[in-house]
Amino acid sequence: MVLEQEVVSLDKISALAKRRGFVYGSSEIYGGISGLWDYGPLGVELKNNIKRLWWRATVHLREDVVGLDAALIMPPAVFVASGHVENFKDPLVECRACKHRFRADDIEGSICPNCGGKLGEARRFNTMFQTHVGPVADDAALAYLRPETAQGTFVNFKNVQQTTAMRIPFGIAQIGKSFRNEITTGNFIFRVREFEQMELEFFVRPGDDDRWFDFWRNERMRWWTDDVGIRPQNLRIRDHEESELSHYSKQTSDFEYNYPFGWKELEGVADRTDFDLKAHIAGSGQDLSYFDDQTQERYVPYVIEPAAGVERAFLVVISDAYSEEQTGPKEGDRRTVLRLKPQLAPFKVAVFPLVRNKPDIVDAARSIYATLKPHFPVAWDDIGNTGKRYRRQDEIGTPWCVTVDYQTLEDGTVTVRDRDTMQQTRHPVPELLDLFRDWLGPL
Ligand code: GAP
Repeated sequence: MVLEQEVVSLDKISALAKRRGFVYGSSEIYGGISGLWDYGPLGVELKNNIKRLWWRATVHLREDVVGLDAALIMPPAVFVASGHVENFKDPLVECRACKHRFRADDIEGSICPNCGGKLGEARRFNTMFQTHVGPVADDAALAYLRPETAQGTFVNFKNVQQTTAMRIPFGIAQIGKSFRNEITTGNFIFRVREFEQMELEFFVRPGDDDRWFDFWRNERMRWWTDDVGIRPQNLRIRDHEESELSHYSKQTSDFEYNYPFGWKELEGVADRTDFDLKAHIAGSGQDLSYFDDQTQERYVPYVIEPAAGVERAFLVVISDAYSEEQTGPKEGDRRTVLRLKPQLAPFKVAVFPLVRNKPDIVDAARSIYATLKPHFPVAWDDIGNTGKRYRRQDEIGTPWCVTVDYQTLEDGTVTVRDRDTMQQTRHPVPELLDLFRDWLGPL
């Protein structure tokens, strides 16, 4: 009997993430700091794999997108022009008694959920982090940690267009950190204060924006389901009401996922119009218009922006892949398995010597490990019996386990066990590298 959990609890996900070295509370030995997390040995691999998959689909496989990596700290003039200093604010209420602060839109009524005291009036709180550049912390040295990667792209539009001679329609992609001093954080890594974004700013001719908006909505849905392997029934698209739109947006669609705590945003696709480029033309005095040498037209391009968070992608990938299964009749015949797409798995293969005290078996296993390791991440596991090793690898999503046993010494074959089917097949050692490369496809 196989028992699959349809919706897993957030406690189980965060416990697994901690236990197996995916995610730790930040600065934990000093009591931690809210809304900040550190990614452990397996977490950094999974994060890098998500980002690589996005970069490959968005940049490397396309002719019309190039990449950028802009600075995280930017001068105030950028955010005055972009409207963030004026508009990047959330409504905040503070309890008059205990001084706890809440997002006003999370609270019903005027009573503090923490102490029952009376809440004050709502006021707007700017969620951008400030810092100072250089040794003097005065207003002249004020700078902001960017709240989205997009502004780094807009201020480089002219640089990139002129140095690459890209013709519209074309896009500039960025993956990088963004910072928001969120009033409240929570749901594990869902709402945090330091996070990474995978953002594409796709520049189009005014009037072509509706068509490209539809194109990118479809392409992003394809990526989540086909490339990342998210189950389509757990994803939906919700169009923003007029009142929800950001200050720069003409239309926005949220991609929502059915998280353990309900349907919430994973990615937004927005039609930012010519708002940002025009704002930076006005703010900087520079000409950021585009001249189309084929139609002899000059215009300020419109922008379609698919913007996803890496941490939310991480949470979605683990939640969607997590299952607990009964593998046999006995109570102990249970396993937790992460059915990750092989491209996303931290380790692609684990190699086991059946026993640790037989040098011929250990040497043969070591040699396989050394052959595979230059090509993709491989785990070595010689602790406990084979059943325990399978359980450990299942729990971190390793797609294949190779066991070197007594038969290997006789006929040069090994057992390859598949994570999802638990089927075991024997293969000659010299064929292993090609076999796994074939099963994995491009990484
Ligand atoms: N440039 C457009 C932009 O930043 P957004 O909807 O505010 O739009 C895009 O953010 C994505 O970034 C979100 O869909 C989410 O995945 C991620 N994100 C935003 N704020 C976040 C936070 N506090 N914690 C984790 N991820 C966040």
